[in-house]
Amino acid sequence: MQKKLEAYLKSRGTSVEKALLRLVQRRGRAAIPFLSPMPESMKKSMRYSLMAGGKRLRPVLVMAAAECRGLDGMKVMKTACALEMIHTYSLIHDDLPAMDDDDLRRGKPTNHKVFGEALAILAGDGLLTMAFELAAENAADLKLSGSNAAELVRVIAAGSGARGMVGGQAADLEAEGDGKRLMSDGAGARAKKALEYIHTHKTAALITASLEAGAVLAGAAPAERCSLREYGRSIGLAFQIVDDILDRVGDKSKLGKRGSDLDNDKLTYPRLYGLDGSRTLARRWTAKAHACLKPFGNRAEPLHWLADFVLERDR
Ligand code: IPE
Ligand code: IPE
Ligand code: MG
Ligand code: MG
Ligand code: MG
Repeated sequence: MQKKLEAYLKSRGTSVEKALLRLVQRRGRAAIPFLSPMPESMKKSMRYSLMAGGKRLRPVLVMAAAECRGLDGMKVMKTACALEMIHTYSLIHDDLPAMDDDDLRRGKPTNHKVFGEALAILAGDGLLTMAFELAAENAADLKLSGSNAAELVRVIAAGSGARGMVGGQAADLEAEGDGKRLMSDGAGARAKKALEYIHTHKTAALITASLEAGAVLAGAAPAERCSLREYGRSIGLAFQIVDDILDRVGDKSKLGKRGSDLDNDKLTYPRLYGLDGSRTLARRWTAKAHACLKPFGNRAEPLHWLADFVLERDR
């Protein structure tokens, strides 16, 4: 399994890297004929974070979801890159002084440390909006019906926005420094509820959107999309629980980030459940993720590997 997963991640990851570079270069030219190309500083700042590495999990999930419905993963590459652009934008903004105030990301100084806060904010805005341009192009390339094209855009917007990732980030910041109060009722039920909300939204929402986007492009039936949504929520929660664990005990040189949860007084799984309790919960969500894939049979093999990768990763 390990070897197959590595080969799968490597081949899809390399294709994504190449496509991202091509797209961010191409987008250096004007998107609308009468406009001038984007400023060189903007392009540099966007490319810096986008091409700094990363596991490329979300684009690989877009491809794997499409493949599990019999569509060649390369055919959904623009949407795969779109999801990686939204994810990268979320990281750039997450690291800003007004948010987690981090100075290392993907093993390099954070975007605002190199380009300044204003350009970092704009690079994030640029990546977010370019993502929708790419998704729309992908829908047109594949000749999706009007309603399926609209559904593709809707799914990505919902997962990224105020009812998805952005909302989760807001709740994460609101809970900062509020852990003691939230944990003050008996068994900490309020804190546990708040934490599940935060992780489901700030992380699982975009992971789920990646899977759903691949499924919509491949013409998946509603029941298949429902199973993929549940799978996405489950690996998404496992993913962020593991992120919280690695923030405490992970090898910083492998992670490429320093870990700032304690400094920022964040509400996290290890804080509420301890390290062992958090590991147990991550395993439980992973088991649930595997179960969600039952209807797909063998076609979901890569999604099974990816669920295990999320749990066992050290980076
Ligand atoms: C980090 O995501 C932010 C979270 C949602 C926890 P990743 O761990 O996927 O970061 P990269 O893309 O590999 O750098
Ligand atoms: C951020 O969660 C999730 C995002 C939406 C970017 P974290 O703040 O824990 O992510 P890291 O640890 O900085 O990557
Ligand atoms: Mg954060
Ligand atoms: Mg952070
Ligand atoms: Mg973290």
